[in-house]
Amino acid sequence: MLGDKLENAVLITGAGQRIGRFLAQRFLDETDYPVIFTYRTERPAVEELKSAGALGIQVDFTHPNAVHDCCSVLTEKVQSLRAVIHNASLWIDEQLVLQKPELMQAMFDVHVHTPYQLNQVCLPLLQASSCEQKDIIALSDCRTSEGKADYAGYLSSKAALESLMLSHARAFAPDVKVNTIAPGLVCFNEGDSEDYKQKRLDESAIPKPAGMESIWQAVDFLMNSPTSTGSKIEIGQLMR
Ligand SMILES: NC(=O)c1ccc[n+]([C@@H]2O[C@H](COP(=O)([O-])OP(=O)(O)OC[C@H]3O[C@@H](n4cnc5c(N)ncnc54)[C@H](OP(=O)(O)O)[C@@H]3O)[C@@H](O)[C@H]2O)c1
Repeated sequence: MLGDKLENAVLITGAGQRIGRFLAQRFLDETDYPVIFTYRTERPAVEELKSAGALGIQVDFTHPNAVHDCCSVLTEKVQSLRAVIHNASLWIDEQLVLQKPELMQAMFDVHVHTPYQLNQVCLPLLQASSCEQKDIIALSDCRTSEGKADYAGYLSSKAALESLMLSHARAFAPDVKVNTIAPGLVCFNEGDSEDYKQKRLDESAIPKPAGMESIWQAVDFLMNSPTSTGSKIEIGQLMR
């Protein structure tokens, strides 16, 4: 802490559940970096992270001014950032997007507009870090390069996110490394039927979800790599 401001903090968006929450907890358990996270929905996990010492910012990135308001909190509370992890995501299938076209905009708000603005605001905070390395990492999806008929909107917004990360990798070098992690199936959603799970597993050459630990390993690798920037780590499954 410098005064009452956080130094060398790690910011994770959408960390109220699943992968984001897992990463936030690992940073708290295994590093000295203060953790700041965003969440949209109040859940017991949010309170658990706050009780463990993380700073939570409630924000819905589809609301006008949401990113601006989130950035105001950041500049007020944070002296410097060690890393920014763009994890928040909307996974919406094509049928629903066709019924509610505004969901297409929502996915671009969360996956592209928010990282674009956050990166600009966070750049000076990352440059202010006393750590040798500074990182921006985005969570994308391994299917962006192939496309998928039933997730066209979702994948197109994630492809835009990947392109943004590449441009910012060039723009922010050599001070800040900017990389993408593009997983395939990491974990199932609560409520997925056994039939659905089996169908997803049958599509893969190795019929197992990658697991959240593999995302932590990729984050750990990127943050410790002195030169990896503009790269994409695919933790995807080879499809049968
Ligand atoms: N799980 C997988 O198998 C898998 C596979 C490929 C890629 N990925 C990628 O890995 C990342 C994490 O996946 P996940 O499965 O853990 O995601 P998830 O469970 O869907 O969680 C994503 C988080 O994003 C937040 N979010 C959604 N809309 C938001 C909005 N409008 N404003 C602010 N926050 C919003 C949600 O917040 P609240 O919960 O607080 O509402 C949620 O906690 C995502 O980027 C995803 O695309 C995951």
